[in-house]
Amino acid sequence: MRLTVNDVTIGYTDEGRGVPLLFVHGFPLSRGAWQKQIDALRSSYRVIAPDLRGFGESEARTGPVTMAQYTDDLHALLQQLKSGPVVLIGHSMGGYVSFAFLRQYPKMVHGLVLVGTKAAKDTPEAAAGRRATAEKVQANGIEVVIEAMAPKMLAADNHDRAMAEQVRGLMTPSKPAGVIGALLGMAERPDVTAELACISVPTLVITGADDTLIPSRESEKLAQSIPGSQLNIVPHAGHLVAFEQADKFNHVLNEWLDRAAFPVLVSA
Ligand code: MLT
Repeated sequence: MRLTVNDVTIGYTDEGRGVPLLFVHGFPLSRGAWQKQIDALRSSYRVIAPDLRGFGESEARTGPVTMAQYTDDLHALLQQLKSGPVVLIGHSMGGYVSFAFLRQYPKMVHGLVLVGTKAAKDTPEAAAGRRATAEKVQANGIEVVIEAMAPKMLAADNHDRAMAEQVRGLMTPSKPAGVIGALLGMAERPDVTAELACISVPTLVITGADDTLIPSRESEKLAQSIPGSQLNIVPHAGHLVAFEQADKFNHVLNEWLDRAAFPVLVSA
């Protein structure tokens, strides 16, 4: 499905009924990264999964895309879909967006699931690296990013070649302007460490034990700082834990959602 929000056409999935779950994918991925959650949860929940601007089926615009801009897109989408408050589930860059969403639209968030993400901003070196990568994408296209990121999405000892190909397929629809915009936006994102202690919604922090892009230590720090949060570290999983170990991930998420028993405030 597609809708125009703000100035771009956004591709999205909206299936099922009940408590709305908003899935926000990471970089340089697309909503297909959540397909195994969509399939497992749509019989019990309303599952909303957009492609962020510049990724998947969504249009790109030139220029940096701040986490606040992605947040405004998501909020406008939810308004059009009349979702009411959601359980916000963000992976990696989607987690950075989730922190911004929580700050900008706290009344729209009933619960939070932080997947393979972190609170710290980029070091100056990391930010400079992103800007250099953006220039390479400008000159030569997104292949340089896919080559760098795809091998790091799964655990190093996962030799499932079909799965590795599927992961690349989640990245290939990304537009150069979308990838550049995200790189520049991530480079200037704020540090949210000081905000963690103020998060008051039920929070699940979940990550892959073998994540080398954002090591599990970052999730431990999140869980230590967010009051009452639950931490799960999934074994035999890299950065894309929800895709690589979908059954284990879905089991943890389902149990947490059951226990939290979120209400539906506005039905579709
Ligand atoms: C992601 O998966 O979204 C990225 O690894 C996040 C990042 O580059 O910081």
